[in-house]
This record gives sequence, structure tokens and C-alpha cells, in this order.
Amino acid sequence: NSHIPVITIDGPTASGKGTVAARVADRLGYHLLDSGALYRLTALSAMRAGVALDDEQGVAALAQELPASFSNGDIFLAGEEVGALIRAEEVGNNASKIAAIPSVRQALYALQLGFRKAPGLVADGRDMGTVIFPNARLKVFLTASVEARAERRYKQLIGKGISANMEGLLADLQARDERDTHRTVAPLVPAEGAYILDTSDMTVDEAVEQVLHWHTLL
Ligand code: CDP
Ligand code: CDP
Repeated sequence: NSHIPVITIDGPTASGKGTVAARVADRLGYHLLDSGALYRLTALSAMRAGVALDDEQGVAALAQELPASFSNGDIFLAGEEVGALIRAEEVGNNASKIAAIPSVRQALYALQLGFRKAPGLVADGRDMGTVIFPNARLKVFLTASVEARAERRYKQLIGKGISANMEGLLADLQARDERDTHRTVAPLVPAEGAYILDTSDMTVDEAVEQVLHWHTLL
């Protein structure tokens, strides 16, 4: 299925990858892979099963058998809808810890390749363009200043009625950036040939239009 077009959208936390990827997939009628959700589901599984986050074999075994399914924007773990649950900052932070384990990344590899189906795929994460789909047709690296990203997360949380504190969010974001950028496996770096889009001063619509514009050039 290597002829099926893939658009990869990688970037740091709260850069807007998820939002932009979903909108681009919708506009093109493509499938969507939210790869971060797979790491979040694995983290949630470990938390629930009482498997320690540094138990590499234990966590990898959960990832290998991950009972994940996706349908119309809903995310299921063993049949239970957990879309809102896995968005919690605690799950995100734990996801970033288990994502540094090579055997966990290996366990999720084949599952991710399976999302490449006709007519095309938009995949968002950290290593979509570098490791999972190195032969993607279009690669985008979405970024924004850490302040802009913290503000976006803040608004997202407040919008959901969750209390948040800006300083705590900034610190969490910086810790996550640090872990994701400096780990030895699949670190967060722009893929070769990736278009870099700094969205600090852009709206979601503008970012979506830019990605669609690059897509038409290919
Ligand atoms: O939305 P946000 O960027 O905060 O997180 P996410 O994309 O849902 O990913 C959660 C965590 O999973 C990240 O902090 C990464 O450490 C990890 N991840 C990864 O390592 N590789 C991916 N392709 C996607 C996510
Ligand atoms: O997936 P990632 O963690 O990169 O970000 P997200 O979950 O898509 O969240 C980004 C938030 O910032 C959403 O609430 C967007 O509406 C907002 N936003 C954006 O994504 N892009 C902009 N250019 C401006 C705001």
C-alpha cells in the first residue's frame, strides 16, 4: 500500500497538530491517525493494570495487545469510550514517559502502518515523517512558541470546565518538550524535506489552508 498518499503532521505538544490534522483529513476525505492516542491508551492501560511506567516489558506487552479502536472521532479501549479520559494531562505526561521505551514504540509500529488505507491518510504525532511514514507525500512540522502553546492548552482546559494554572502548564509543556526532543528513540525533530510551519500567530483556519495549499503543489 506504499502508493497510498500520506500527509504527516509532526510537532510539539499543543502546536495544533491534532486539530489541523483532523481538519485536513476531513477536507480531503482521508483517514486519520492520531498516533499520540495510541501512546495515551497504552499509558492508561498501564495505569489501570497497575503496571509501573518503568516496567519496559510489562508496558510493551500491553502495547502489543492494545485493544484500541477508532470511529467517528471516538476512541475506544476494549469497547469503552475513553476519548476525554486520555486527554488528561496526567495521561499525556505518562504517555511521554512510556513513549521513550524502544520496545513500546516497536509494539505500536505495525498498528500504525495499518492506518494507511485508500484514498489517503493524514497522520499526526512526533515521528510520523521520520520513522513511521518516511515515504510520505507531504511532511509538515507544526510548531509554535511555548507561550502560545501553553495559552492554547489553558483555553482548551478552561473550555472543558477544568481548572488550570498557567505556570504549571508552562512547566509541564517544557518538561514534555525536553523528554520528547532528547530521547534516543524517535526524538522529535523535523523530517528531512518537511515544511516547517510556525503557527504562533496563525489561526487554525490559516494553518489548515497552508497545509492544503502545499498538498496541491505536489
Ligand atoms: O497532544 P499532545 O501533543 O500533547 O500529545 P499527543 O500527541 O497525544 O502525544 C502524547 C505523548 O505521546 C507525547 O508527549 C509523546 O511523548 C508521545 N508520542 C510519541 O512519542 N510519538 C508519537 N508519534 C505520538 C506521541
Ligand atoms: O495535537 P496538539 O497537542 O498539537 O494540539 P491540539 O490538541 O490540536 O490543540 C491545539 C489547540 O490550540 C486547539 O484548541 C486549537 O483550537 C488551538 N489552536 C490551534 O490548534 N492552532 C492555531 N493556529 C491556533 C489555535
